[in-house]
Amino acid sequence: MEQSKFVLTEDKLPTRWYNIQADLPEPLPPYLHPGTKQPLGPADLAPLFPMELIMQEVSQERYIDIPEEVQQVLRLWRPTALFRAHRLEKLLDTPAKIFYKYEGTSPPGSHKPNTAVAQAYYNKKEGIKRITTETGAGQWGSSLAFACQLFDIECKVYMVRVSYNQKPYRRIMMETWGATCVPSPSPDTKAGRDMLEQDPDCPGSLGLAISEAVEDAVMREDTHYSLGSVLNHVLMHQSVEGLEALQQMEMAGYYPDIIIGCVGGGSNAAGLTFPFLQDKLTGKKPDLRVIYVEPDSCPTLTKGLYAYDYGDVAGMAPIAKMFTLGHTFMPPPVHAGGLRYHGMAPAICHLHKLGFVEARSVPQLATFEAGIQFARTEGIISAPETNHAIRAVIDEALKCKESGESKVILFNHSGHGHFDMAAYQAYLAGQLSDYAYPADLVQEALKHLPEVPAGL
Ligand SMILES: Cc1ncc(COP(=O)(O)O)c(C=O)c1O
Repeated sequence: MEQSKFVLTEDKLPTRWYNIQADLPEPLPPYLHPGTKQPLGPADLAPLFPMELIMQEVSQERYIDIPEEVQQVLRLWRPTALFRAHRLEKLLDTPAKIFYKYEGTSPPGSHKPNTAVAQAYYNKKEGIKRITTETGAGQWGSSLAFACQLFDIECKVYMVRVSYNQKPYRRIMMETWGATCVPSPSPDTKAGRDMLEQDPDCPGSLGLAISEAVEDAVMREDTHYSLGSVLNHVLMHQSVEGLEALQQMEMAGYYPDIIIGCVGGGSNAAGLTFPFLQDKLTGKKPDLRVIYVEPDSCPTLTKGLYAYDYGDVAGMAPIAKMFTLGHTFMPPPVHAGGLRYHGMAPAICHLHKLGFVEARSVPQLATFEAGIQFARTEGIISAPETNHAIRAVIDEALKCKESGESKVILFNHSGHGHFDMAAYQAYLAGQLSDYAYPADLVQEALKHLPEVPAGL
């Protein structure tokens, strides 16, 4: 049997992040100010983010140094291992070779602290005392709580109500790391109160929780806001995954034909795929296929409109050009809470629009079926979000079985599902169902896109 685990020593931890903006054939469209609808300048973002992150957001430098203090924390669990899924290959009886980068060994259990640590560090450096954020599945909130604790910053998390109810242990994790966590919509902000008045049983959404966290941050001098996905600097912080995986695939003696990741806001998938996409953008690997996977019930890349839209429900966050289902769209309460976002990272949307990457959507039940096959072969019980990637990996491996091709498939395993047992219980008891694509709701939401100046 060929080797199954590819491990890098600590000295192989990347010391620079990769910024894909340097290699894009066309620059990203600018963000717009939610009030004036004009392109944003760095000063407009200063109430929300530290200046070093704002400069990273628009930087065209190919590589940016990872500060020593950030590297020191990342070394608690990085470099992460890359595995060959021999047992899954055997179960599927496929000639495909399946590899995965496992991000579930971080203290909070996912890829999210790769950026949380960097963001807490830059905020601390700028003298910020408190950070607010939103969380869907709870993976991001717990990652920021962990990072804030290490840099001695207060942290308040607005957690989408449906996930807050489904996952009490994620909240307790955040509290263990010293953060405060409230269900969103909450009575603590105007955006939350307005929604509760309209619908007291509102399940919440990432877009709404972002509105609450942004409102809280702009109301206080000592507070900044932090976003766990979507923005360029977040995607760039995640590039440690791909930079490590490039070294590990070389150790394995293969280069991937297909790379797969699940996408909510796009950060874990970008983290693994962007350093490989550099080879495609520069013409070194023109045939590389990259597939991003999302839920049927929230199919942003596959069914959304490519347009300028607000990043949040209340229209307080910057306006970005992205595939969107409409900022007022409230996705069905699927268990993959981290994939319930109306928009998508502008960088991912741009690459999709230019034809460098593919997207596909999958139904909820099929993702759990894939997750169970993975757990029963590779052992890891995966987050429901990750199961979306695993579904697409299995589908591609089965295609190889039919065609007899021995393709090399690499995917990002974004996190474990140890706090998602209620979802697995419901699946195993036959109580989960698929949600059809809510076309009417999306059509309604798309009527509320902001009007932006002609030519943008
Ligand atoms: C385990 C896991 N995977 C994936 C995601 C999706 O987010 P992103 O697309 O930013 O990686 C989340 C978000 O909460 C998550 O917790």
